[in-house]
Amino acid sequence: MNTVQLPDALKSALVFFAMKATDVEEVLAIENDAFPFPWTRGNFLDSLASAYPAWVLRDADGRLTGYFLLMSAVDELHILNITVRPDWQGKGIGRLLLNKVMALAREAKMQSILLEVRPSNVHALAVYLHAGFVQIGMRKNYYPNGTEKREDAIVMRLPL
Ligand SMILES: CC(C)(COP(=O)(O)OP(=O)(O)OC[C@H]1O[C@@H](n2cnc3c(N)ncnc32)[C@H](O)[C@@H]1OP(=O)(O)O)[C@@H](O)C(=O)NCCC(=O)NCCS
Repeated sequence: MNTVQLPDALKSALVFFAMKATDVEEVLAIENDAFPFPWTRGNFLDSLASAYPAWVLRDADGRLTGYFLLMSAVDELHILNITVRPDWQGKGIGRLLLNKVMALAREAKMQSILLEVRPSNVHALAVYLHAGFVQIGMRKNYYPNGTEKREDAIVMRLPL
């Protein structure tokens, strides 16, 4: 993983837009590159149809660099999916996405942000711990892993 951070000038050229159904093909291309068990087109379209908050981050040339989808439940904001384009990972884009999630959560007067992560996803785990998330539980057999035995999920929470 390249850990060289992007210069501030490049970061400030990145712009958030609400995700639309017309973004889904581009999102799906990144999703398929980023995950061994990616969301399907239907997962994204269903989330948008349900009006779940969803955002994309684009660079100055309009290229998609990352995205996230959220679901709110009472006073908790749940991160359903958060992804940075693989060749941009480890450069500070995930932090920009998380900062946007936190800003949206505070605006909506949420008390906390929740997410699930695979124990094998050591980079994502490190990023979340670094951002202040703490493990609050484990969901057994949560994720598919290509075998009969599914992978557990670590449940993490960030109090706001
Ligand atoms: C997980 C993911 C969203 C993180 O995004 P990213 O762009 O790679 O992360 P960043 O480079 O912005 O790192 C975020 C912060 O974590 C820190 N960090 C990164 N790796 C770290 C490590 N090993 N230990 C401690 N801190 C670390 C960074 O320094 C940065 O902190 P800062 O903003 O205070 O400098 C991205 O890697 C990704 O899309 N992965 C594939 C899909 C995925 O796994 N999604 C999550 C599923 S739960």
